[in-house]
Amino acid sequence: MITAALLPARCDPEAIKGEDWVIFPLKSTAHITQAQLADVPFLADIHKKSFSRAWSASEFQALLGDDKVSCYVIRRSNLIMKDQIIGFVLVRAVLDEAEILTIAVDPGQRKSGAGEQLMHEVMRQLYADRLAKLFLEVDETNQPALLLYQKLGFEKVGERKGYYASGKEKASTAWIMQINLG
Ligand SMILES: CC(C)(COP(=O)(O)OP(=O)(O)OC[C@H]1O[C@@H](n2cnc3c(N)ncnc32)[C@H](O)[C@@H]1OP(=O)(O)O)[C@@H](O)C(=O)NCCC(=O)NCCS
Repeated sequence: MITAALLPARCDPEAIKGEDWVIFPLKSTAHITQAQLADVPFLADIHKKSFSRAWSASEFQALLGDDKVSCYVIRRSNLIMKDQIIGFVLVRAVLDEAEILTIAVDPGQRKSGAGEQLMHEVMRQLYADRLAKLFLEVDETNQPALLLYQKLGFEKVGERKGYYASGKEKASTAWIMQINLG
């Protein structure tokens, strides 16, 4: 069975110089790794495309340097991209609880499982590190995110009225959601 194609390296923006040909998988594959400082421009770019209040590259650098914060990136390869970062999640752990700081998937890459894979990886790691609870805040009008968290088993445990104001006529309510990891 053919599972990969040999294509000219110019198809791969990250191809190593000097190599003329690169192997691209025919089927889309994705893998998750811890973010590196070199990934910061990609994180900032995806964040800017996803939120009205974009975080700067230096804000991402500071977060990556915080030892309580973990950042996971998901990279996709297929016939048109190779190991391209298409999404990320940032989580802060304090004692036995953790909080999702943000999660975003590149708009062109949504609805194909990347967000769910990132959340599963975070929960797997936190469980392995023996954390008990994971919290997050989500705009009650953000249907894709709400449906994702509900699918994963998060439950609403509180709310902050008028919390999300940026770029809106009427500020919307934040839901505080929680899942038990144990
Ligand atoms: C929320 C977000 C991260 C989801 O990422 P994604 O890769 O598109 O999500 P997935 O493909 O993994 O979807 C997993 C589940 O989430 C729900 N979901 C995600 N997007 C959805 C949409 N547009 N409509 C309905 N349900 C959706 C579904 O339950 C889906 O499961 P299904 O495919 O079995 O129906 C993405 O929409 C995003 O980056 N949004 C902008 C940033 C943001 O709002 N972040 C959350 C801040 S709290």
